[in-house]
Amino acid sequence: MFWLGIDIGTGGTRALLLDEEGKVRHGFTAPHEEILMHRPLWAEQRPENWWDAAQAAVRGVLEASGASGDQVAAIGLSGQMHGLTLLDENNAVIRPALIWCDQRSQAQVDHVHEVLGRENVVRWTANPVLTGFTLPKLLWVRDHEPALFARIRRVLLPKDYIRFCLTGEYATEVSDASGTALLDVAHRRWSGEMIEGLKLKASILPRVYESPEITGRVTAAAAADTGLREGTPVVGGGGDQASSAVGNGVVEAGIASDTIGTSGVVFVHLDQPAYDPEGRVHTFCHAVPGKWHVMGVTQGAGLSLQWFRQQLAPEQSYDQLTALAATAPALSQGLYWLPYLMGERTPHIDARARAAWIGLTARHTRADMVRAVLEGVAYSQMDCLALIERMGARVEKVRLSGGGAKSPFWLRMFAAVFQKPVASLETQEGSAYGAGLLAMTGSGRFASVEESCRQAVRETLTVAPAADEAATYAQGYSTYTRLYPALKEIYPRL
Ligand code: XUL
Repeated sequence: MFWLGIDIGTGGTRALLLDEEGKVRHGFTAPHEEILMHRPLWAEQRPENWWDAAQAAVRGVLEASGASGDQVAAIGLSGQMHGLTLLDENNAVIRPALIWCDQRSQAQVDHVHEVLGRENVVRWTANPVLTGFTLPKLLWVRDHEPALFARIRRVLLPKDYIRFCLTGEYATEVSDASGTALLDVAHRRWSGEMIEGLKLKASILPRVYESPEITGRVTAAAAADTGLREGTPVVGGGGDQASSAVGNGVVEAGIASDTIGTSGVVFVHLDQPAYDPEGRVHTFCHAVPGKWHVMGVTQGAGLSLQWFRQQLAPEQSYDQLTALAATAPALSQGLYWLPYLMGERTPHIDARARAAWIGLTARHTRADMVRAVLEGVAYSQMDCLALIERMGARVEKVRLSGGGAKSPFWLRMFAAVFQKPVASLETQEGSAYGAGLLAMTGSGRFASVEESCRQAVRETLTVAPAADEAATYAQGYSTYTRLYPALKEIYPRL
């Protein structure tokens, strides 16, 4: 038998087939359309495109492996978090989804805090409301598109829309639901205080499960669309970060993960919910039943390099750009990159922050510029890690996954910046892999999520921080942390 993990990412949907040991047999990615950015800081995607991509990815992975849908024992879903998918009474998508990095809803965030009190919101949901979260996006639609708002019957997160397409069920699970600003994170259920306080209808929200629980089964129609077997169970799965943490084996204290996708996320497991009163990191439910996690998010991590490549070096591959960066000296000859291409969450919580190179001179080369971009991303992840450690979490090692994690250059640089050993993993599949392991747990192949990680997750390379590089980067990081405060007053004027 096989198990399927499907990750509805930002750039594409990836389907991964795992065998009985939890080893990856095949993967297939179907790209998404470009993000719709009608205005600066707006970001939308068409949910129908996610479903097209999911069908293509499932068909693609089955074809590539020669497996038939009958051989798939269970499916796990993972996905970009926070996105607002709206369905009407006929289950038609009402408008393109406002996705995680959309930053248009500051007025709605302020409104929620004003009406309910910020402290109450943190007490009820473990986090203040942020522009990235689902709730203020929903309120933005209420304020600006009342005719569309009136048609809403269901609100779903991106992967839960795919669950609906596969099973016909309106369901979510605790880790992704945590990012809506409507979940009582400590008690792992919708927050009546938030819903009633904002006069929302509870009926628009899906049922909440724990991540390995079975939430529904593939319908005959979806089986025909995908090549899967009718009746195949679909487990809750997780938000992409919690799923990725499962895929990285971060299901107990002491190890952190750092996942570089479009965003960059430092993730630490918690046995009990703990939060930053200023709300600069997110405290969410983990995909491990009865556990939580805290994470810091850089909005534009992989995005920084992607933007650089698209705009300034379209002829180069990511590997070539990494090799080019390695030719420049550490600290990029005094050049710094602030990765705030989509505003910033941790540690600034500032939707208006903008990206920049600081320190350019005529002497700087493209190699310095790309190295500065990588260093800036590493520093921004250090901001996240430092904050989480200040909250009292113990971190002895960081497991790096996502873009760049295979590159010894990145591992070395991150180890030096974090001043901790950084490990890469045998399976670099992150979210889709975690979703597959959750499917294996939910269908009984493994006794628990922790057990699935013990059996399946293996470290490959571990890089210890080199003392001289760590000292150099400590200096660089200290300069980096002074840049945002110096620019903060300028951003609103841009
Ligand atoms: C997490 C977050 C991103 C998205 C996209 O809070 O917003 O990681 O899930 O990957």
